[in-house]
Amino acid sequence: MKVIAINGSPKMEEGNTARILNPFLDGIKEAGAEIELFYTSKLKIKPCQGDFHCWFNTPGKCMHNDDMDMLIPKFEEADIAIYSTPLYADGVSGPLKNLIDRQISRGNPTLEFRDGECRHPATKDQKPGKLILVSSCGLWEMSHFDPVLMHMKAYCKNMIWDFAGALLRPHAPAMMFLDGLGKKYDDIFEAAKEAGKQMITDGRMSEKTLQIVGRELMPPEDYVNNLNEMVQTVLEAIKKN
Ligand SMILES: Cc1cc2nc3c(=O)[nH]c(=O)nc-3n(C[C@H](O)[C@H](O)[C@H](O)COP(=O)(O)O)c2cc1C
Repeated sequence: MKVIAINGSPKMEEGNTARILNPFLDGIKEAGAEIELFYTSKLKIKPCQGDFHCWFNTPGKCMHNDDMDMLIPKFEEADIAIYSTPLYADGVSGPLKNLIDRQISRGNPTLEFRDGECRHPATKDQKPGKLILVSSCGLWEMSHFDPVLMHMKAYCKNMIWDFAGALLRPHAPAMMFLDGLGKKYDDIFEAAKEAGKQMITDGRMSEKTLQIVGRELMPPEDYVNNLNEMVQTVLEAIKKN
């Protein structure tokens, strides 16, 4: 089984998102799947120009020559695609959005009605792959992921992909506060790894496992107080220098 994973955080390995993505990928690997991981910060992907050159002038090929030329065949071969991103302004990070937009070159320009809605038909030989979202955010509640979840589900309908679920880590900076206090929360990483194994062996991730990944790390009031204190400390330190 082939898996393509995209880490859309500019913090790459140092980021909160990678702290969830990496054990998830470890679980996938342990279960026997083949993974290719790419960081948008290391890729050269220009934004879509919006002129449909890839649909009419050179069908299937964008006017830009960049890393999408290398990535598109990998998406076509993959059984599972993983988009991983920090929540930015209630959506995916800009570089990941560019990568998503540029996949329009894989599409079919004509229209049809599918499941009661007007959509583009599947392209010839299109593989019905699965998509998983891995995301972290700074605000406390799980509900902040609602817009990005809706986006991914809508996108899957258009791509004729199966949305296979999401590993969501709200109030992710709480991990740093817990580290500072020496408090352990390894269960969330173990659950991320377990979700990876489940995805390959069972073809799905259990609700219970995903809930542990996103479980409350500290009460909301403590989180807000910790964060506000940190903001104050950083601002004062910068003022002194
Ligand atoms: C430009 C920007 C926009 C952000 N927007 C949101 C947001 O809308 N909601 C939220 O909860 N967190 C938001 N955050 C916080 C990040 O999602 C959060 O810190 C995340 O864990 C960072 O992941 P990373 O370390 O992998 O980059 C934002 C951060 C930045 C830099």
